[in-house]
Amino acid sequence: MTVNQAGRRMLVAAALVAGCALGASAQTTLSLEEKAQFLRTARITSSKDIPKGVTRPIRLTLTDGTLTHDAAFSAVDEHTAILKFKDGRTELDFVDSYKYTLAAYQLAAMLGIDDMMPVTVEREVDHHKGSLAWWVDDVKWDEGERLKLKLQPPDPEAWNRQMYRMRLFAQLIADTDRNTGNMLITSDWKLWMIDFTRAFRRSRKLLVPGEVARCDRALLDRLRALTKDEVAAKTKPFIGGAEIAALMARRDAILVLVDKLVADNGEAKVLY
Ligand SMILES: Nc1ncnc2c1ncn2[C@@H]1O[C@H](COP(=O)(O)OP(=O)(O)O)[C@@H](O)[C@H]1O
Ligand SMILES: [Mg+2]
Repeated sequence: MTVNQAGRRMLVAAALVAGCALGASAQTTLSLEEKAQFLRTARITSSKDIPKGVTRPIRLTLTDGTLTHDAAFSAVDEHTAILKFKDGRTELDFVDSYKYTLAAYQLAAMLGIDDMMPVTVEREVDHHKGSLAWWVDDVKWDEGERLKLKLQPPDPEAWNRQMYRMRLFAQLIADTDRNTGNMLITSDWKLWMIDFTRAFRRSRKLLVPGEVARCDRALLDRLRALTKDEVAAKTKPFIGGAEIAALMARRDAILVLVDKLVADNGEAKVLY
């Protein structure tokens, strides 16, 4: 791998001298590309089921001989003409696919919010292609658990800003499954978005426009600058023309909505 081996050896040596195993803090010193490379190439040493969740991704342990870290692997790729949910709702051309998680990660990178997602790459495991995501260590709660425990973030404004970034992204990609189990919170109160297998619906309208109430300025700039061709190039082959056309229409709808919010309420209430 391309990681600076000598540097890592020094880290290992330092950890051993300190009498502890290579910890999460040392692991997070890897760059995003180094993490991606590790996920693509490190040897898989064990696998276990994840007790939570619906589509049952598996938790793998990987090692490159120096670094050992876990990752979540999902190979779900279901296409159903008409799916009837337990609550009576139906969805036509229902798709549940690991490819959408990969497309979401690429798109998040284009928008500068990929620090809200674990690094995710495509990899083949046991002859199945799937998404492989860096395991987020130090998760304290998912959002469902936080709400149940009625825990308040220490810095509500910082927390809300993360939430509004996530909500805008969910509307952009028409994510039908942004449930509280797909929002992980680490001890530093950082919000992590995972699991986008039910996104990229073909709706040209926003699923829940009310979710876009405030907007990060840097994210808004990137959103305005997004082009169809660039999206197509970066998300290939995980999403195609129909998904991208709908995505760009929703992008336009978000821009109109944010501009209107600013005109009605003033920039200070909407943008941050
Ligand atoms: N990269 C990850 N880091 C930490 N925990 C994860 C990661 N991926 C999944 N999990 C845990 O596994 C659960 C199920 O994974 P998820 O990808 O949401 O699949 P499902 O389709 O089953 O909902 C999550 O709610 C979370 O608790
Ligand atoms: Mg999930």
